[in-house]
Order: sequence, then C-alpha cells, then structure tokens
Amino acid sequence: MARILITSAIPYINGIKHLGNLVGSQLPADLFARFNRAMGHEVMFICATDEHGTPAELAAAKAGKPVAEYCAEMHQVQAEIARGFRLSFDHFGRSSSARNHRLTQHFAGKLAENGLIREVSEKMIFSIDDNRFLPDRYIEGTCPNCGYDSARGDQCDNCTKQLDPTDLINPHSTISGSTNLEMRETKHLYLMQRALKDKLEAWIDSKTDWPVLTTSIAKKWLNDGDGLQDRGITRDLHWGIPVMKGDQPWPGMEGKVFYVWFDAPIEYIAGTAEWADANGLGDEAWERWWRTDKGAADVTYYQFMGKDNVPFHTLSFPATILGSGEPWKLVDYLKSFNYLNYDGGQFSTSRGRGVFMDQALSILPADYWRWWLLSHAPESSDAEFTWENFQASVNKDLADVLGNLVSRVTKFARSKFGEVIPAGGSFGAQETALIADIGARLRDYEGHMAAMEVRKAAAELRAIWVAGNEYLQAAAPWSVVKTDPEQAQAQVRLALNLIRIYAVISAPFIPDASAAMMSALNCTDWSWPADTPAAMRLLPPGHAFAVPENLFRKITDEERADWQARFAGIRN
Ligand code: MF3
Ligand code: ZN
Repeated sequence: MARILITSAIPYINGIKHLGNLVGSQLPADLFARFNRAMGHEVMFICATDEHGTPAELAAAKAGKPVAEYCAEMHQVQAEIARGFRLSFDHFGRSSSARNHRLTQHFAGKLAENGLIREVSEKMIFSIDDNRFLPDRYIEGTCPNCGYDSARGDQCDNCTKQLDPTDLINPHSTISGSTNLEMRETKHLYLMQRALKDKLEAWIDSKTDWPVLTTSIAKKWLNDGDGLQDRGITRDLHWGIPVMKGDQPWPGMEGKVFYVWFDAPIEYIAGTAEWADANGLGDEAWERWWRTDKGAADVTYYQFMGKDNVPFHTLSFPATILGSGEPWKLVDYLKSFNYLNYDGGQFSTSRGRGVFMDQALSILPADYWRWWLLSHAPESSDAEFTWENFQASVNKDLADVLGNLVSRVTKFARSKFGEVIPAGGSFGAQETALIADIGARLRDYEGHMAAMEVRKAAAELRAIWVAGNEYLQAAAPWSVVKTDPEQAQAQVRLALNLIRIYAVISAPFIPDASAAMMSALNCTDWSWPADTPAAMRLLPPGHAFAVPENLFRKITDEERADWQARFAGIRN
C-alpha cells in the first residue's frame, strides 16, 4: 500500500468556476484520488479556496459585503458545488485559515533567517482615480515579451511569462480603466529566488518523468535570460496574511500583507493541517504527509493544475520550500493541462460565456459532465467543448453502451430467471475469451490511470464497456435461452458479474452511476477486479438483484439547441 498525497490548484474565491477550470485541476485530481483509493492506497486529497488578493476585495465591494463575510459565503457556495460534482476532497480548506496565517508567516520567517529575503524600497503604481495601489492583475498593458496587448501585471496569458506590473507597456487600471496612474514609494519584501537557482535547477533536472508541457515551461523560466527573478512577496492591501517573521512583528512592514501567490500554495500544507484539526487529530497526523523527517519520506506527492499555474508550482513554491531549509515534501509529479475552449471561442468568466459549474449541475447530473470532461481532457493540446460532441458522447458512451447494457441484462435476467443470480450452466469458450479480453484491458486501464493519462484511461474504460456489449451480441442469451436455458443462465451470471466490475472500475469517472449499479446488484463489495476470473464469479448463484432505474437519459436535439443558445454569453 502506497501513500499518495494529491493537491488540486486551489480556485479563486470570487465567483463560480467554469467547466474549463474544473477539468484543468479539480476533476482529474478527483479521478486520480478515487482510483488510488480503489487500489487500496492511503490517499490524502486536498483542495481549498484561494481567498486573498485584490480580486476578492473588489468582488466583496461589488457585493456590498465585508470581505471576510463575502469569502466565508463564497467558500460555502464553492464547497456545495464541489459536493455536487462529487469531488472527493479529504478536506476543502481556506487559504484565509488561521493555519495558513501561521504557516505562511513561519515560512517567511525561515526564509528571512536564511538570508533569502531582502527589503526593497520601490515605486509602485498607484491609481489616483481608484485611490489604491494597483497590484498585478489590475493593471493591463502590452506584454514586453510577446507583444500581447492584454497582458496582466502578474503574468502574460499569451506566453505565460511571469511579469511585474512595471514591465507592461501602456498600462491602465482595469478597475476604472484610468490611465491616471502614478508611481509612489513603498517598501516590500523580495524572495531572492536567484540565489536558489542552482537548487531549483538540480531539482527540476531530477524530474525525468514529468510531462514535456511541465518541464518545458519550468525550464523556460529558469533559463531564459531574466527568467528567474527575485519576487515581491508582499502587497499594500488590507485583506491577506499580515507580514510577520514567524510570530514576531516585521519592522517597517506594518499594515502590509503577503502576496496571494506566496500564501496560496502554502495552503496545500495548511489545508492538511485544517483536515487534522477538523478530525480532532494532532499535528503528527498532517506532518506525516508533509514533513520528510516525520514520516512523509514514503509519500508520493502529485499536483494537478492548468498550464498557467505551472511556473508558480515549479519555481515560486519550490523556492519557498527549498529556501526554508526545512524538510518539507516537494512535489513528485506535476500533472498540468492545456485549456478547454468553448464552442468556437474561449470560456469567459467576465462575459459569462460557457457553462459554469452551478449551471452545469442545474441541467444534468454530475456524471454526464464528469464523463465528457474527463474523456476529452485537454492533455496533449487544447480541447473544445461543443454541444454536439457532448450530446453524442453522452448518448453513445453513457446511454447506449453502458446504460443499455445494464438495463438489457438486468431486465432479461429478471424476466427469465427472476431477481436472483441464476445457477445453471458453466462458462464456455466465449466466456473464457471475454474474461481474458477484459483482464488484459483492465491491466491497460490501470496503467493509464496510474500514469494520469486521463483520455487514454477513458478510452480504455469505454472499450471495456464495448467488449461486454460485443460479448452479449455474440452470445445472444435471449436466443440461447430457447434452446439451452442452462447455458443462458451461465451467460446471464457472467453479465451480472460484469456489471459489478463495471461499477467498480467506472466509479472514478461516474461515481453516482456506479453507486446505482452496485445498489441494484445489492452489493457492497467494491473490491477492485485484480483477479479477473475470480471477479467474474464474485456474485454467487442465488444472490438477489434488482433492475435499476435508467442510468442515463439521452440528450434531445431540442435540449442541445436550447442550451447552446442559453450559454452563448452574458450570464443571467
Ligand atoms: N487560484 C489560482 C488559480 O486559479 C491557483 C492557485 S494554486 C496554488 O489560478 F498553488 F497557488 F494554491
Ligand atoms: Zn507575453
């Protein structure tokens, strides 16, 4: 049994995420967590809301609420939607938690002790019309690296370069649009990442099994000319984690907070501590996941995120960890995703274009979305959601291939032999061949799942469903029953056992349908079919079952057209 730590990039608190956000981090992380639990491994799966920074402040102001109250409410909203999508976090924390305050201040203190923090008195952009310093994302202008004209102050979405607001050409405030900006003197802390370059490089070089997308982005910003800059880790804001050296005040830094990207990844650790607190466990319970001197040496740590998050996870956060000089766990495997586009364009949160998580659940159950999103995950390139493709995939894969098999088999069995597994006959050549085929495919499926090859895993799972259909087509128990009822009983016994196998192996993708299959089979044995021949005989003759409700319904052309129009833009 292995010990597996999984974190998903933590979503910003302001607003509800769209399906593109979901498939780029939380959903594949959930798939992987569910699979590893099913394999009998010990899993810790952590996510949280990313609550600090200007976006949260502005969203709260817009909602007319104090920012702490706004964040507490939005956290509940996001937690509820996550439950709706069956995201199986062990804990869904908050980056504003007391645990994260303490840990973030602890890391800053250690970095200072190790001589890795310097104070910089600098001129920052102050917006006179907005009456505030304008950090990062609230300044837009032209990217000095690639010329993209809507680059944000923290990062260019076009070329992924991490930026400083003052790098931008022709900057303006995105709050008011004002170009009435001036430079004002203010003092900030910088993390001396340059001093950590060799350590970071050696660490990244040791990751020979990382996907190309991940290492190429990391290497690019590590080695390209001015790639690895020292980073400002404090901001002039009210909402955030007060700048302290451990539990000591930081002279000259009064009234300032840590930069949101400094404290957010630390929440992965703090979230695990919140999990321990919530379960009445002591510090050792979370430290054994994170401290290699306290039991975490045998933990394998996986991170899931969209490609825009990669620089922060391959450089900035590791710089914090390595710079602390303490034995914290570093990520072992980083799975990053490209973007999901929406119906000929991009998902847009500001323009309400595309399907948002709450809306998705209001029109169809979670499994439908989970299946489409995961089977079309933007792994090797960007992917696109279209309603035609969604309809086709749901109607074919889920309704025709899987749903239909379950309903045909259970209904036929009930009508001919009653609601118990029939005892007659024995497996012949066709059954033996199916068992061998399913067994081989299962090993393939396990390999893809363990390697986080999400699309390949989905394709193999579908192939396993198809193999069952082909067997039934060829074996044709509905004809055989007329001439050789004993043989038909053996075929049905096999098919009912196959449904249990489908329920178990499909659960990481479609947990609700799997639960429905298991409850129809009156079975609570979720054991993974490691031994395929044994798994095909697990439900014994005489075991009672029921015919389930239809597992999946089809999406009609009218619905498809209606939804397509409804989600084209401007959310209401
Ligand atoms: N909130 C960020 C985003 O949605 C992700 C933060 S991930 C963390 O892009 F590592 F910083 F926590
Ligand atoms: Zn750029």
